Amino acid sequence: MQTHPDSHATDAPLRLRVNGDEHVVAVPPQTALLHVLRNDLMLNGPKYGCGLGECGACTVLIDGVAARSCVIPVRAVQQREVTTLEGLGTRTCPGPTQQAFIECQAAQCGYCLNGMIMTVEALLRRNPQPTDAALRSELHHNLCRCGTHVEILQAAHRAVTLHAKTHADERAP
Ligand code: FES
Ligand code: FES
Repeated sequence: MQTHPDSHATDAPLRLRVNGDEHVVAVPPQTALLHVLRNDLMLNGPKYGCGLGECGACTVLIDGVAARSCVIPVRAVQQREVTTLEGLGTRTCPGPTQQAFIECQAAQCGYCLNGMIMTVEALLRRNPQPTDAALRSELHHNLCRCGTHVEILQAAHRAVTLHAKTHADERAP
């Protein structure tokens, strides 16, 4: 069991399922999910930006839906499936959304990219063929202070193509 530095003796263990693995953490139940992911589970894909649910840097998937982990208490995700950037693929075998952002070199500082990638991933899971307008709308509330929006949108379109190819390959006999 991993122990949070702010934990108290009375903190009941919380069971989490993250990227397909079971974890037990002893943290105050109101601790933001983002802090548990980064500080207790060492999953540093999600980033701390505003801490207010406004920038998107901390985005994860909860049961496949994009959510801002800086404003979600960890107690709220028990019995739920949490997916972080690390759950989409690996350095040597990135998932299609990750691969699209690599190919398009859609980053300057890269701090916003976790949120961009997880947001696009969530959209493609519920709508595999989004229009340009749908992609723009989905990314509208993710902030990029470097102004890399053109490349990020190109990467989002490339992700649509790569997801379609991946699913076609999976269906091939
Ligand atoms: S850090 Fe969570 S939305 Fe900004
Ligand atoms: S690339 Fe720097 S914040 Fe988006």
